Amino acid sequence: MSEVNASNPIQYTIKNEPFYQPVGDEVELYESAYATKMPVMLKGPTGCGKSRFVEYMAWKLGKPLITVACNEDMTASDLVGRFLIDINGTRWQDGPLTVAARIGAICYLDEVVEARQDTTIVIHPLTDHRRVLPLDKKGELVEAHPDFQLVISYNPGYQSMMKDLKQSTKQRFGGFKFDYPKAEIEAEIIAKEAGIELSIAEKLVQIAQRSRNLKGHGLDEGISTRLLVYAGQLIAKGVPAKQACRVALVTPLTDDVDIWDTLMTAVDTFFE
Ligand SMILES: Nc1ncnc2c1ncn2[C@@H]1O[C@H](COP(=O)(O)OP(=O)(O)OP(=O)(O)O)[C@@H](O)[C@H]1O
Ligand SMILES: [Mg+2]
Repeated sequence: MSEVNASNPIQYTIKNEPFYQPVGDEVELYESAYATKMPVMLKGPTGCGKSRFVEYMAWKLGKPLITVACNEDMTASDLVGRFLIDINGTRWQDGPLTVAARIGAICYLDEVVEARQDTTIVIHPLTDHRRVLPLDKKGELVEAHPDFQLVISYNPGYQSMMKDLKQSTKQRFGGFKFDYPKAEIEAEIIAKEAGIELSIAEKLVQIAQRSRNLKGHGLDEGISTRLLVYAGQLIAKGVPAKQACRVALVTPLTDDVDIWDTLMTAVDTFFE
């Protein structure tokens, strides 16, 4: 685990404004949620702007942001901290959740369903009226800084019976539902992010929309905004649009030859 220094919040501060194009009233709603320090859950498919939104909000609110990518091997100690043994003896090292609670950061637990339920449970006392984090092994009770807020992300599509949040976890959060933006807005995002003409971005979005209609009919997920940005970036580098789409939009999405052909046919109708 990388060394974290709780006394230096500056390192977690976002210096430059991230580009975020609002798609509804999410910015204002989030500001209100932050004002009450309500824990927030962002739900939505992969690559639709959840992480970008949190980065933007942390920048806008001027708060440090600590992001943790969750996985099934993650333990409670990976979040709260552990004792380390080095040549000077034993010392305690705060985990990222503890650092965030101490310095008053926004702590973003990405893909939280991936974590085991016994790991997720450590956030419970932080996400109700108590706002405390018990460090059992150290025998310390950390009271969360008034600026601390917990944000989790969650991709409803990947959830299974085995992997879901407990109701007692879910019902500690306000939920923000994300999806791919509507066509005009998504095209503007792609044009701006990739530095391509709007007319090309519009075509990319139409290809994505066709793939999204195949969701549940051979595809688990359609082409994400993230992949559209990748395609746009290749085009901006001079790669012919068709090849850019093959590399960035179609090949990552499927291993099924028929679906691959169907998607490439869609690409052909927009780019020669
Ligand atoms: N509203 C938006 N404004 C600006 N850029 C956006 C927006 N939505 C998506 N993007 C672009 O899409 C990319 C992917 O978004 P992001 O990384 O936030 O996805 P995500 O929802 O966090 O996905 P995952 O669940 O896979 O982590 C961003 O890097 C950005 O280029
Ligand atoms: Mg993300």
